[in-house]
Amino acid sequence: MDIITITDLSKTFKVPKRKEGLKSAIQSVFRRQYETKHAVKNVTFRVRSGEIVGLLGPNGAGKSTIIKALTGILSPTSGEIRVLGFEPFSQRKDYVRHIGALFGQKSQLWWDIPPADSFTLSQHLYEIPKQEFERRKNDLVEKLGIQDIIHKPARNLSLGERMKCEFVMALLHRPKLVFLDEPTIGLDVFAKQAIREFITYTNKEYGTTYILTTHDMDDIEHLAHRVIVISGGEKVFDDSFAALRKIAGVTKHVRVVTQKKVVLPKKGVRGVMHISPYEAQFVLDREILGIRDLVKAIAQKTEIIDLTITDPPVETIIAQLYQAKA
Ligand SMILES: Nc1ncnc2c1ncn2[C@@H]1O[C@H](COP(=O)(O)OP(=O)(O)O)[C@@H](O)[C@H]1O
Ligand SMILES: [Mg+2]
Repeated sequence: MDIITITDLSKTFKVPKRKEGLKSAIQSVFRRQYETKHAVKNVTFRVRSGEIVGLLGPNGAGKSTIIKALTGILSPTSGEIRVLGFEPFSQRKDYVRHIGALFGQKSQLWWDIPPADSFTLSQHLYEIPKQEFERRKNDLVEKLGIQDIIHKPARNLSLGERMKCEFVMALLHRPKLVFLDEPTIGLDVFAKQAIREFITYTNKEYGTTYILTTHDMDDIEHLAHRVIVISGGEKVFDDSFAALRKIAGVTKHVRVVTQKKVVLPKKGVRGVMHISPYEAQFVLDREILGIRDLVKAIAQKTEIIDLTITDPPVETIIAQLYQAKA
């Protein structure tokens, strides 16, 4: 069953026109000129109940604008949005009771009081019966392992601790559908891992549907059933992670520092970004050459002093998507 349908969603903003030079800077103080900026362009997609859908894209792609339109914070410039039978912007007051939302950059917690008290405020706001509230709270708090920290003032918590409390806050009223805007931004690998497990748990246990934005490939790989890639306000891909990998390839960025002159293997090395006698940076095609064999090949010639292996940035994946389409 579809619980979200977005049809031809567009959102434009009027932004002050900026021209170079002092003269036009002075002119613009008196006579501001505006231009129209397309943040989101003709985006269409559906989400079924129980899915975890990831919106992947670089900074400025339009992900947050889509989430804001879906949560009823922003009105669409054109197009149509239906979520759980509501039109989010015009029916915002009734609609928001049925959803949960978490914005990585913005807190829902009350800064000066412990999260435990913020949870109680939420209980009253959503009129959750006392016993039921305790049961839900304990379950969520236990799953996230934050029993000891919810009694400290929110402002004293680390980012990871705070984010876990934000999740409790977003889920206490048991929404069917939860929007997460960059839920793992700035977190260390352990906090990221805990949050991914928690999302998967609530999805399985309560059937919670999730739409999340990220520019982290790892989030998508470990979490999302489906990935929608957004670039320049447009949807450029909508399928499984496996399908994305087929098009974009299974690549890693490698940086290696060596004792003596570095010699790269002929197979599997796609794009060399930098090479000097003792250092190389390149893209590794893991389908052709595994990490183990790469290390072996390099180490045969010289000792490896340092090695960094990272996922390619989203920009690279998008470039590959465009190449595949051309
Ligand atoms: N309130 C606003 N006024 C003007 N421009 C905006 C506003 N909000 C977003 N934008 C612009 O729209 C584009 C998409 O922004 P956003 O949705 O925040 O991207 P993302 O979340 O993918 O980083 C960006 O170019 C951004 O500068
Ligand atoms: Mg954003």
